[in-house]
Amino acid sequence: MQTVELVHELKPYKSLSNEELRTRINAVREDLDERLLILGHHYQQDEVIELADLRGDSYLLSQMAADSEGCRVIAFCGVHFMAETADILANRPEKLTERNGERVQVILPDMAAGCSMADMAAIDQIENAWDEMGEVLETSDITPVTYINSAASLKAFVGRHGGIVCTSSNAKAAIKWAFAKTSRVMFFPDQHLGRNTALGMEITNDQMPVWDPHADELGGNTEAELENSKVILWKGHCSVHQMFRPEHVAMFRKKHPGIQILVHPECPQDVFELADEYGSTGKIIRTVKEAPPGSKWAIGTELHLVNRLKHEHPEQEIHFLSPVVCMCATMYRIDLAHLAWSLENYRDGTPTNIIEVDEDTAKWSLVALERMLEVR
Ligand code: 13P
Ligand code: SF4
Repeated sequence: MQTVELVHELKPYKSLSNEELRTRINAVREDLDERLLILGHHYQQDEVIELADLRGDSYLLSQMAADSEGCRVIAFCGVHFMAETADILANRPEKLTERNGERVQVILPDMAAGCSMADMAAIDQIENAWDEMGEVLETSDITPVTYINSAASLKAFVGRHGGIVCTSSNAKAAIKWAFAKTSRVMFFPDQHLGRNTALGMEITNDQMPVWDPHADELGGNTEAELENSKVILWKGHCSVHQMFRPEHVAMFRKKHPGIQILVHPECPQDVFELADEYGSTGKIIRTVKEAPPGSKWAIGTELHLVNRLKHEHPEQEIHFLSPVVCMCATMYRIDLAHLAWSLENYRDGTPTNIIEVDEDTAKWSLVALERMLEVR
């Protein structure tokens, strides 16, 4: 592969102050004007999120990418699967026709900004599981549902097999949609979101075997367990949300009578069930915003978002639901230095860190993503 020499190397940006980096990023914004859209996920660090034109949870950011009008480049301050999704939605066939074939380029400022949960399900593992499951069950009676936190290849698998993508804000509607088609669902890669959502739909734990891709056979299940299944979960989780524990909930309830526990549905079942409220990052923000002054919260989601809520809502008492630091180390990789470096390279003719999903994968992923955008 031919490598193009970049106009700007990354190293010098690392020694610039935040003030200098902000000035340079704002200069690129002026130069590119409405051609540039900076999107930021709520878990980004403050310096970065402050520069985003639009911020949101996974669902809203997908919608923003799908609806973007004048822009020709999206700098995605989030993680890899989000940038892939933006590329697929912003460059879907009708949008390309409107723009006479001109693509929107999607930049992920640091290519190492992945998602450890998404990495827990590789396409060959999913395909092997599907084939092996087919030895015991009719796969024509299973609808695959992938959480948006997955590689585009998994979304394409789901699209090809009549399934749907969901986010944490529409998981229940997506599973309901799937059950209208078939009597079983295969849900990946987050076992906790799948389990917490299905438990709220009167599906029991013994109807939700977990498929372990590293087990010798049948994902570590017996034939009888699979035959009894309604939702086949995948052995994946978020390393950040997995760290919240029931004893943290007990400790806050004891120390702060009247406190409300608010968690992301990626938390394990034992924490999720103890919570008063739950929701996507967008829903968590709305819940706090709408609460009366003096409300007390212990929030179980990524640290940067909880700290921001604390800062923005001094009229409420907000705690982080863990004594340990639970932060998304990969989201944190996006910093002002990477953002300035990638934007200046784009403006000056050597675009770098471009996320472009191949045509066939994009086509099938889009089928499953469009269903996601329709189902609420
Ligand atoms: P949201 O869908 O709430 O944005 O969550 C994304 C995510 O990665 C949570 O860990
Ligand atoms: Fe992935 Fe968890 Fe980070 Fe979300 S918080 S991007 S699920 S590792």
